[in-house]
Amino acid sequence: MKTKADISNRKDVKSLVVTFYQKVRKHDILGPIFNQIITDWEAHFELLTDFWETQLFLKRKYHGNPVTVHQEVDDKTNNSVSSEQFGLWLNLWFETIDELFEGEIAWVAKNRAQKMSTMLFLKIFEHRNRS
Ligand code: HEM
Repeated sequence: MKTKADISNRKDVKSLVVTFYQKVRKHDILGPIFNQIITDWEAHFELLTDFWETQLFLKRKYHGNPVTVHQEVDDKTNNSVSSEQFGLWLNLWFETIDELFEGEIAWVAKNRAQKMSTMLFLKIFEHRNRS
């Protein structure tokens, strides 16, 4: 039986993003990476809300480049970003979506994150081998 609503607007996306990063910040392994690099969390929430609104509702609000940003994150952490960390990131993302939402857009949010994490990890590796 369907008990939760689907992700349907910016308010939903923001609550997903904020709940997710609250978990990330407290996480034993992921927390230190994010807390070391991100100083303005409100700005990060807004940016990631723009990113996911763009991904899920084709809003054209996010115009950044996640590939170069994550290559820089890897540089800043002495090339230590690992597939295990991406797995932990994805587990928390899936867990947060399942806690809050249910439906087609919730499924797309999981699927998109899974595809992006594979792509980002490969791009980090490519950059590491070049530099
Ligand atoms: C282990 C996995 C990951 C780590 C450690 C990580 C870490 C970070 C950090 C530290 C930032 C902030 C960078 C800064 O402000 O200088 C960031 C930004 C971001 N992350 Fe991740 N991330 C991970 C996975 C992902 C995945 C799977 C996605 C997408 C599905 C994603 C999407 C983004 C986006 C869109 C930004 C903002 C980029 C921008 O500034 O334009 N991240 N990430």
